[in-house]
Amino acid sequence: MKLHERCQKVSGITRHLREAGIYPYFRPIERSWGTEVEVAGKRLVMIGSNDYLGLAHDARVKEAAAQALYRMGTGPGGSRFLSGNMVLHQQLEERLAAFVGKKRAVLHVTGFSTNLGALGCLLTPSDYVLCDRENHASIFAGTTSTRKLGTFAHNDAASAAKKIANELGKPDFDGQVLLITEGIFSMSGDVACMDELAALKDQFPDILIYLDDAHGLGVLGENGRGTANHFGITDRADFIMGTFSKAFASIGGFIASDHDDVLEYIQHQSRTQIFSAALPAASTVAAMTCIEIMEKEPERVERLRAVTSKMRNAYREMGLRITDSISPIIPITIGTDEKAFMFARELFERGIFALPAIYPAVPRGEALIRTACMSTHQDRQLDYVLEVMDDMAKKYRIRVQDQDEESQGEDEAGASNIAGARSSQSLL
Ligand SMILES: Cc1ncc(COP(=O)(O)O)c(C=O)c1O
Repeated sequence: MKLHERCQKVSGITRHLREAGIYPYFRPIERSWGTEVEVAGKRLVMIGSNDYLGLAHDARVKEAAAQALYRMGTGPGGSRFLSGNMVLHQQLEERLAAFVGKKRAVLHVTGFSTNLGALGCLLTPSDYVLCDRENHASIFAGTTSTRKLGTFAHNDAASAAKKIANELGKPDFDGQVLLITEGIFSMSGDVACMDELAALKDQFPDILIYLDDAHGLGVLGENGRGTANHFGITDRADFIMGTFSKAFASIGGFIASDHDDVLEYIQHQSRTQIFSAALPAASTVAAMTCIEIMEKEPERVERLRAVTSKMRNAYREMGLRITDSISPIIPITIGTDEKAFMFARELFERGIFALPAIYPAVPRGEALIRTACMSTHQDRQLDYVLEVMDDMAKKYRIRVQDQDEESQGEDEAGASNIAGARSSQSLL
């Protein structure tokens, strides 16, 4: 298929959604107050942000970032390898390593480029990389230098064990096994079974574990030190990767480890580190100030937990279909893609900012609205979201009891009709 034809497949869908008035993505935000934003002159409660601790609008973080910008300028002027390395970068690496409980950390300009660069330079064709099936795109993008990429059933350590045993049992296997998981999964909000995955090292002592804790840092563990800290398995996570685009209220990424030689190697071989500009001073200092605040103010993480449990309990009580988790990411299952688009549009009209995730990000027919809690959400904002959700849940028939009634009706209508109806409801 020619390039234009391939592109037109996507542009045809987005045009159709725009014409129908239900295209929800790339909404231009004019102003942000953190828990509220302004879009097209309309003020909305933000219930979809990854700024879990609300630090992007903390006066101390903004002031420190502004001061750094005035002292060091707006851009770094080069990669760290050459002319862009700053004392600030080294200070942040030290703070990060101490925060997650590792010896050393290496920065990158984003989380995506951390996974891409670190995994890209560490893996060789003979290594076996075993990923949770729901791992983030940046992890899979980083694994292209191995021929042997396997996946295990989502959050299932027994499935991972089977795959590892199978690979190690091959007489010609002479590479490294690297098991990669997220700490909190970005879309489902599931917390990884890190205790069980870490225990695999008893059975397979030579495997290495790589934990992408993009959504766990600032959220789980003591003072938000992350998923490994939460489970008490920091020493068993060989690599802890994180990003500043969530609770660290900035932009940038890092990988931390006790394997000093491996980090030295990444520092000099990661292509996204060597051939990409350094993190600007303002972003660096913003992340560093967030760590200081997390260390001093554990009440922020506690408030996030309180907000999360208030919302989870209330959603469950009103019959919404949500997963069992303790994370602030709370996806609400809606149904077809089209229904999720319409639901998101009405949320917007009623003053709430939250976006849908559709196939192929989620299984067909299980499109969802991804909501996320912040420690700075005020009760009046949360109560407003709950009031609207309750009303819309009934209107759109997305509650557990609505599904039960529908499946009863479908049983009566016959299986063949159902398949036809479902496929015709799907826009994509
Ligand atoms: C699990 C996970 N890893 C990595 C990334 C990439 O991070 P960044 O936004 O800093 O590029 C994300 C961001 O969406 C993520 O959710």
